[in-house]
Amino acid sequence: MASLRGNSLLSCILSLCLLSLLSIGTSTDTITSNSSLSGTNQKLTSARGQFALGFYQPTNSSNWYIAIWYNTISVQTPVFIANRNAPLTDPATSQLTIGSDGNLVLLNGSKTEVWSTNVTGINLSNKTQAVLGDNGNLVLSYVSNTSDVLWQSIDNPTDTWLPGGKLGLNKTTNISQRLISWKNSADPAEGIYSLLLDPNGTSQYFIQWNKTVGYWSSGPWSETQRIFTLVPEMTENFVYNFTYVSNNQENYFTYSIKAGSNLTSRFIMDHNGQIKQQTWVEATQQWILFWSQPRQTCDVYDLCGPYGSCNGNELPYCSCLQGFTEKSKSDFSLEDYSGGCVRKTKLQCESSDPTKVPQDKFYVLYNMNFPNNSESMQVNSTEECESACLKNCSCSAYSYKSGCNLWYGGLLNLQDGYTSSDGGTLYLRLAASEFSASKSNKGLIIGIIVGSIVVILFSIIVFMVVMKRKRDQRAARLLKESRGTLIAFRYDDLQFVTKNFSEKLGGGAFGSVYKGLLPDSTAIAVKRLDGFHQGEKQFRAEVSTIGTIQHVNLVRLIGFCSEASCRLLVYEYMPKSSLDTQLFNSRDALLNWSTRYQIALGTARGLAYLHEKCRDCIIHCDIKPENILLDDNFVPKVADFGLSKLLGRDFSRVLTTMRGTRGYLAPEWITGVPITPKADVFSYGMMLFEIISGHRNNSDQGDGKSSGSGFFPTFAARKLIEGDVQTLLDQKLNGEAPIEELERACKVACWCIQDDETTRPTMGQVVQILEGILEVNTPPMPMSLRVMGESPDYINFFSDMSSGTSSKTHSTSAASSLVKNSS
Ligand SMILES: *[C@@H]1O[C@H](CO)[C@@H](O)[C@H](O)[C@H]1NC(C)=O
Ligand SMILES: *[C@@H]1O[C@H](CO)[C@@H](O)[C@H](O)[C@H]1NC(C)=O
Ligand SMILES: *[C@@H]1O[C@H](CO)[C@@H](O)[C@H](O)[C@H]1NC(C)=O
Ligand SMILES: *[C@@H]1O[C@H](CO)[C@@H](O)[C@H](O)[C@H]1NC(C)=O
Ligand SMILES: *[C@@H]1O[C@H](CO)[C@@H](O)[C@H](O)[C@H]1NC(C)=O
Ligand SMILES: *[C@@H]1O[C@H](CO)[C@@H](O)[C@H](O)[C@H]1NC(C)=O
Ligand SMILES: *[C@@H]1O[C@H](CO)[C@@H](O)[C@H](O)[C@H]1NC(C)=O
Ligand SMILES: *[C@@H]1O[C@H](CO)[C@@H](O)[C@H](O)[C@H]1NC(C)=O
Ligand SMILES: *[C@@H]1O[C@H](CO)[C@@H](O)[C@H](O)[C@H]1NC(C)=O
Ligand SMILES: *[C@@H]1O[C@H](CO)[C@@H](O)[C@H](O)[C@H]1NC(C)=O
Ligand SMILES: *[C@@H]1O[C@H](CO)[C@@H](O)[C@H](O)[C@H]1NC(C)=O
Ligand SMILES: *[C@@H]1O[C@H](CO)[C@@H](O)[C@H](O)[C@H]1NC(C)=O
Repeated sequence: MASLRGNSLLSCILSLCLLSLLSIGTSTDTITSNSSLSGTNQKLTSARGQFALGFYQPTNSSNWYIAIWYNTISVQTPVFIANRNAPLTDPATSQLTIGSDGNLVLLNGSKTEVWSTNVTGINLSNKTQAVLGDNGNLVLSYVSNTSDVLWQSIDNPTDTWLPGGKLGLNKTTNISQRLISWKNSADPAEGIYSLLLDPNGTSQYFIQWNKTVGYWSSGPWSETQRIFTLVPEMTENFVYNFTYVSNNQENYFTYSIKAGSNLTSRFIMDHNGQIKQQTWVEATQQWILFWSQPRQTCDVYDLCGPYGSCNGNELPYCSCLQGFTEKSKSDFSLEDYSGGCVRKTKLQCESSDPTKVPQDKFYVLYNMNFPNNSESMQVNSTEECESACLKNCSCSAYSYKSGCNLWYGGLLNLQDGYTSSDGGTLYLRLAASEFSASKSNKGLIIGIIVGSIVVILFSIIVFMVVMKRKRDQRAARLLKESRGTLIAFRYDDLQFVTKNFSEKLGGGAFGSVYKGLLPDSTAIAVKRLDGFHQGEKQFRAEVSTIGTIQHVNLVRLIGFCSEASCRLLVYEYMPKSSLDTQLFNSRDALLNWSTRYQIALGTARGLAYLHEKCRDCIIHCDIKPENILLDDNFVPKVADFGLSKLLGRDFSRVLTTMRGTRGYLAPEWITGVPITPKADVFSYGMMLFEIISGHRNNSDQGDGKSSGSGFFPTFAARKLIEGDVQTLLDQKLNGEAPIEELERACKVACWCIQDDETTRPTMGQVVQILEGILEVNTPPMPMSLRVMGESPDYINFFSDMSSGTSSKTHSTSAASSLVKNSS
């Protein structure tokens, strides 16, 4: 019965396909002077079906464009847009065809040419045609001689650099080709950021703002190492194989995707000012960010515009400073922040009658990076510096740190939570009325004051009586409820215990976390899930599953709130914050080795529980120091587990857009094979290296230790094989760590980050190794970390892996005979 129905369904679909094929006609890859393309149901398809060309409408846009896109993936992603600066309004009446001059032209509804390939001197006695190739390249040539290319799309890129394409400098004209970003997420018109090869003739790429200000350089190409010198990570895991060509006509690079790799990968100049390499992941139906430069989004020049402030850990990246508001809300929502922010209230000197307005004041911004266009002023005190700023109407801020500095006009490139030592306190000039506590003096009449005082006093008394009763009721209710297992909080109760979400503990990709205090003085952490769209029923189901998971090394979910569109999760509060603050920016006591080891072990136990002991195996998917919280005694607790299921596609969107290069993400996220718990093992290994070294794996600022490769795990794997683990320990610990524990931790970390997930240990095995129950061999250098050209060795994870039992003896089987220390 079921199969019968399946069959008829299938034939129904088949006949539908046939019908639609007939009505469109056989698809072709060529436009000739006889044929043209018009309307949304006509498109060109390359010979083997890799790419398609047709009318394209970006998401959230009403405009239409002629574009080439990947024909093999479900999300329409353009690689070339012909008329990016001349959009069409109606595809049905527009036409792409060969014009009377032999060029490929695009005509709009009134037959006006809006775009052309613009080749001059085409011999009209020979017909021309345009052919879409399987490499995504559209080629205009004579019909009689297709190898004589008149024009090709790959030489005129928009924001995407396709494999096989050139991006270089024409030495005759001295003009460099540019990849130019989209204006915003919905408008492919030329944006403000571009990537180009050095017009002065060296082999380095620049990213420029407004075609003038350079803010990133790749460094020159090194032919021996086959990398750009300032992008050392290219050797290791990079899927692209670049080739440099320099002759007397031109300099250029071209690239191919490394042999054996099946990837659909794109290289783009993004509208947020970063170059990005993304890989299509069939499993999640998404583009996953694999690599980007500059590494930090906030290093992009002028990303947030004047008076905007950048925070690379939160979406959206840009927000307005105190007292300012978005110049264009719609641009901000399209991720174009370049317009920046404008004052909510005019300054005193700008108002029509300055004498009637109180004097401007200064709002204090701590931990700020200083914009670099300051002017210094010879004065001797903060007060003088402040009054110097007040004297000039265009002075917008000052700082007094090793002298007085004044800034005029829009403040650019500010960053939130800037922790580098060259930051400091910035005084931002605002109109006095922006300060809520501002005292308005002269205008007030005594009578009014006296009258109001009486009224106010009375209201306060009434108010307090009401509030007290309300609070007592609330306290009673909350206390009653908190005795149950999982509390369904009311939104206004949570608003109350968090003092209207005033004390922010942190902001993550999924939403911000606030501190709250229950009536019995239990501290809680309330996570508000932002931009979250899931039905209440499903949410409750997932939450109650998460609520049943309890382990000493997992953060306990106390309750949740699900009202209207609000979704909140309530967790126990962790006084020592997260591992990253303790490890990387703590100004308190240093974490000693034994604490670090306990944290590593506890985290492993928590993860092992999630993977192996729960009814449904839970893959965390986002293991990083930010998600390891610490209680008063530094007992680690894994946070945010279960969110991957709760948030579904939203989760992987956030996961993948927030990821920089070489973070904690296992290679299988990119290659598209199914994600297993071993993806967490990989992330854990990356994190363990950070626990050992005390700094971020890809921070270059290290102490010279990581300078060898720029990437600590590479350095560590090499040292481990050389048998020199002492150099891997955080220098701040002065070598105070038992050598066998250090070695065990290093080995296990290196095993965890093996490319092949079957070679990685399970989390349960990691626990046993760290506990010293299981002996472990020296791991091989993970393939992706290996410098190209070294011959691959095959080494098994455990010497006794085949037997599946744990034992302390080293086997001498063939598989492990390459192990260095096996005796
Ligand atoms: C174009 O049209 C002309 C005359 O109508 C015909 O001879 C020629 O074969 C056509 N070319 C193509 C490629 O269809
Ligand atoms: C389209 O607009 C909606 C609502 O403004 C927004 O949530 C969504 O992210 C936008 N999509 C893209 C691709 O910009
Ligand atoms: C076609 O383009 C011309 C010139 O840009 C413009 O004046 C005309 O309104 C456009 N026609 C349509 C139907 O869009
Ligand atoms: C083609 O040339 C015309 C005139 O030189 C110019 O206005 C137009 O922008 C060019 N179009 C393209 C796509 O380069
Ligand atoms: C155009 O091509 C024809 C045939 O190949 C040739 O006879 C003619 O001289 C060419 N014209 C020009 C201007 O090159
Ligand atoms: C034009 O066509 C003729 C005959 O097909 C051919 O001999 C000649 O080479 C072509 N000219 C060009 C410029 O392709
Ligand atoms: C450089 O530009 C000139 C003029 O546009 C062109 O004739 C030449 O073919 C270009 N050179 C290369 C190598 O593309
Ligand atoms: C190219 O060289 C000139 C002169 O040496 C220099 O002023 C300019 O900044 C250089 N341009 C770039 C992009 O490096
Ligand atoms: C970009 O540069 C052009 C001139 O080179 C200038 O007119 C324009 O105002 C600049 N854009 C911005 C946003 O500053
Ligand atoms: C990279 O490209 C060069 C030249 O195109 C080729 O010789 C080499 O084998 C390629 N390397 C890899 C790893 O694909
Ligand atoms: C590449 O893709 C094809 C089909 O999509 C598949 O059969 C093949 O196994 C893949 N190769 C690799 C190395 O993943
Ligand atoms: C600052 O102090 C120096 C020396 O104490 C003095 O010479 C100078 O006049 C002072 N400058 C101002 C602006 O007060």
